[in-house]
Amino acid sequence: MKILVFGPQGSGKGTQAELISRKYKLPYIATGDIFRFHIKEGTQLGKKVKSYVDKGELTPGSLTNEIVKDRIQQPDCSVGFVLDGYPRNISQQKFLESIAKIDLVFVINISDTEAVSRLKDRLACKCGLSYHPVNNPPYKKGICNKCGDKLFVRDDDKPAAIKKRLAIYHKETELVLEIYQKSNTLHQINGAQGIEEVFAEIDNIIILYK
Ligand code: AP5
Ligand code: MG
Repeated sequence: MKILVFGPQGSGKGTQAELISRKYKLPYIATGDIFRFHIKEGTQLGKKVKSYVDKGELTPGSLTNEIVKDRIQQPDCSVGFVLDGYPRNISQQKFLESIAKIDLVFVINISDTEAVSRLKDRLACKCGLSYHPVNNPPYKKGICNKCGDKLFVRDDDKPAAIKKRLAIYHKETELVLEIYQKSNTLHQINGAQGIEEVFAEIDNIIILYK
């Protein structure tokens, strides 16, 4: 099963993609996490993308396409995958269409006001999990439940970068959603409910599809 998860910044794409991945034993791929990993490790790729990611801009050119192509062709993706953060514009969507047939697409909807409010307090882990001091606290303060790593505040969770990321979502990524809407693969999910309720809505659709 090949699944895409969309939604504005802070809608819970990463949170929900991880839950889908765990329940259905599908590899979880998040382009943002791949970039943040390389930035933290100081690799060539990390140096190339850091200024874009920190400012909340899309990384340019076909770089992301090649990263996704390489990742989804790995043997563990023969069962499918859950992809979060890609495609974000029409050019990426066309590329993805040429390399994979997508089964289900979810868009988790929340208002921009809610997005800003969630992101300003978010704590992230480099394994991809996100926490929130009130909505989704870790068992141990400042430490990831899954991998035990120290949580951090993302550089792009500053007000100016959040604003830019939301603007790009509305301008470029929503055009991609129209394509999936036309092909009847898109499912609208109400993101303004608790994490478990959002997952139940998504899961009811996956169960019907399987
Ligand atoms: P990326 O890492 O994908 O960031 P994003 O799209 O901005 O999305 P977020 O990770 O901020 O939000 P999320 O929806 O995953 O929310 P989360 O689950 O954490 O991309 C970062 C950057 O990488 C881009 O800006 C760009 O520079 C680059 N990039 C990535 N992909 C690219 C591409 N394809 N092309 C070019 N460049 C690319 O949840 C948010 C918070 O809310 C958490 O604290 C969580 O605990 C809490 N929460 C979650 N669900 C709920 C709920 N239901 N109720 C209450 N709180 C909740
Ligand atoms: Mg995320």
